[in-house]
Amino acid sequence: MPLELRQVEKGDFADIAKLDQIACPNEGVVHIIRQLQRDEGMDVSTSFAQWIATGTEHHAGTFWKVVDSDTNEVVSVAKFTFQYHEGEAYQDTPTPPVEGETPLPKRLIEFFAWLNKISDEYAKDHFKGKPHAYLMYLCTHPGHRKRGAAGMLLEKGTQLADMAGLDMYLQASLMGVPLYRKFGFEVVRVGEIDLSQWGGDKLDSRTFMKRKTRGVRQ
Ligand SMILES: CC(C)(COP(=O)(O)OP(=O)(O)OC[C@H]1O[C@@H](n2cnc3c(N)ncnc32)[C@H](O)[C@@H]1OP(=O)(O)O)[C@@H](O)C(=O)NCCC(=O)NCCS
Repeated sequence: MPLELRQVEKGDFADIAKLDQIACPNEGVVHIIRQLQRDEGMDVSTSFAQWIATGTEHHAGTFWKVVDSDTNEVVSVAKFTFQYHEGEAYQDTPTPPVEGETPLPKRLIEFFAWLNKISDEYAKDHFKGKPHAYLMYLCTHPGHRKRGAAGMLLEKGTQLADMAGLDMYLQASLMGVPLYRKFGFEVVRVGEIDLSQWGGDKLDSRTFMKRKTRGVRQ
């Protein structure tokens, strides 16, 4: 069962959506997103695949997977988005839907806007418009954990950030914190968000972590 690091390709999105269903606990923000999708009659896997695919043409170089090279099964995925120039939008900022694509329902757009505001405020406080990198998504299949798959992805992402001379930040789950520390991330802020207005019944904790680049900005 050897593990191999590869770049994500267009044909992978359905598999990544399946992995997300199995790997990401249905709680907190994830639970709200899935619930809003169901309320709107959306297929959760299909809409996740659309979301994770957003902007891929601009940042194919920072979207990586680990596969079991015996079976080609995708066991872990990480999507990094890099902001190379001062003040520019993240590469995953959704563009208006292309012709033929269904736009997202209003309530889901409102939820993402509310959530993004929290991340944007953090980025504004800490980077003040300065280019930086962001780990927007990481998960490993429960059957393949503790084999170093996420570590391979973090190694790649942090190397790329160092090559570009970019600091990086992320919002960690409790499970992720010790691993991120090994790659040089430090906890900057632990905040709680109140999801009750979205039908959530508890506070969701967000651990903001930041890593200083070891490279020089080009
Ligand atoms: C957090 C998560 C991505 C880690 O994935 P993973 O592939 O198991 O990560 P790794 O195997 O690289 O490392 C996990 C641990 O296993 C250890 N490990 C790595 N290779 C190992 C091996 N061959 N044998 C034993 N342990 C090993 C690592 O040192 C690490 O230890 P630590 O947690 O004490 O730091 C995974 O638990 C997950 O998907 N969780 C649910 C979703 C989530 O929380 N995502 C992160 C959101 S920010």
